[in-house]
Amino acid sequence: MIPGSRCRRAQPGQADHDSRDREAGDTGRRPGPTSPSGSSGTKLEVGLTSARRADSAAPRRRTSPAAARPDRHRLYEQAVQCPEADVQFFHRVYRERNHRRPLLLREDFCGTAAIAAEWVRQDPQARALGVDLHAPTLRWGLEHNLAPLGPAAARVRLIEGDVRQVRRPAADVIAALNFSYFVFPTRAQLRSYFRSVRRSLTPGGLFVLDIFGGWEAQALTTETRRRGGFTYIWEQVSFDPLSHRVRFHIHFRLRGGRELRRAFTYDWRFWTIPEVRELLHEAGFGSAEVYWEGTERGTGKGNGVFRRIRKASSCPGWIAYIVAA
Ligand SMILES: C[S@@+](CC[C@H](N)C(=O)[O-])C[C@H]1O[C@@H](n2cnc3c(N)ncnc32)[C@H](O)[C@@H]1O
Repeated sequence: MIPGSRCRRAQPGQADHDSRDREAGDTGRRPGPTSPSGSSGTKLEVGLTSARRADSAAPRRRTSPAAARPDRHRLYEQAVQCPEADVQFFHRVYRERNHRRPLLLREDFCGTAAIAAEWVRQDPQARALGVDLHAPTLRWGLEHNLAPLGPAAARVRLIEGDVRQVRRPAADVIAALNFSYFVFPTRAQLRSYFRSVRRSLTPGGLFVLDIFGGWEAQALTTETRRRGGFTYIWEQVSFDPLSHRVRFHIHFRLRGGRELRRAFTYDWRFWTIPEVRELLHEAGFGSAEVYWEGTERGTGKGNGVFRRIRKASSCPGWIAYIVAA
């Protein structure tokens, strides 16, 4: 199954391992399955000014869309992300608990910082912090998601670094979406990340994660989904029942049949809801509640509406948010 349907958002997100980077010998930047500790955590701020410069100075190539080099980040965002729905959800759960609106969001594993950008776009007083290990992806986000915001972009700060090393400023909401925390393969590593998140929240602050599962999520299958003008291909290459280690690829098929193979590759540990909740509690969170997606009448597919539940029925594929406070 293709996991996920939040806002018709289909799948786990951007690569924890960019296969092309890896082929180019760039192995040190991101945490792999055996070395998730990643970088030393050096915070290397990425300046907005450089993005603006790049935006205005970049020579405009006159290529037809068909001839243009496909942009895997753009395709990824169109295929799997829906920042509006995520931001709406954060506001809803925060207001339910705190009766005020949250102001500072930290987007962990932010990649192109699409959610951070949406956060400040929706509220002229809001600020956001995005954290990711991968500088080229952050730079792409600066150019394509932040620069177009104009002056509002000044309310977003991006940090190139390990999510476990960033503590300040404390945030009202910290989000780790598209299952990015699956990059941590052991209980000790995941708990240590959760603990560092807990210490980085303001009083009343929330940590929002997402998770997917179901028996179809363990099947070695390739599934395709049409998006405007291209096909998104999700390939599950391996699943080890002993370790729950999994490997997925995302490919894109473009108009005219051209394919962008292995645009993104993930080597993850497939965590379950009880494991994640237990680790959140062990990391000091007082509650970790599950918001389960409703089902569309007729089709039986997810409807993008998430409600807090205490018990769920068995189902072949599902997606949920976990909100820890
Ligand atoms: C699945 S993508 C998430 C993209 C985006 N947030 C989304 O919702 O689709 C995972 C990102 O996490 C980054 N990453 C992996 N391990 C990290 C770590 N320890 N600290 C910071 N970023 C990390 C990768 O560079 C990659 O951009």
